[in-house]
Amino acid sequence: MSASTHSQASPAARGKCEAIDLLGKVSLIDGHWQQRVIAEMNDYQFKVAKLLGEFVWHQHSDTDETFIVLDGELRIDFRGSPQGDGSIVLRAGQMAVVPKGVEHKPWAQGEVKLLLIEPRGVVNTGDGATSERTVANDQWI
Ligand code: NI
Repeated sequence: MSASTHSQASPAARGKCEAIDLLGKVSLIDGHWQQRVIAEMNDYQFKVAKLLGEFVWHQHSDTDETFIVLDGELRIDFRGSPQGDGSIVLRAGQMAVVPKGVEHKPWAQGEVKLLLIEPRGVVNTGDGATSERTVANDQWI
């Protein structure tokens, strides 16, 4: 983890006990796949994003990744898991945990609003090549 992953100033919300509106936070984001941090719990971060279209295949070798769909319908293709290859579909109110080391590719045919939970410092494109889809870490909204 480089110093640049923690380049943002401490957000005012950090460490405060306050209500956070998930969809309200999503509405502040410009563009798709631009995940933003909205809260932390110990070393874990809660991030929201709007998704549309196809992401890239990637994996996170050091951590599981939790997807909670707030709105829309998200398909996650996966390969290389103990259960083999496949895909799942998550609708609003549903969640899944992608285990570490399992390659996955989120896909949103229509717009999806999403809450992600993962450790601080996780890069959205995992071990994949850095691309226009790669988002700098620790950007709060
Ligand atoms: Ni991932």
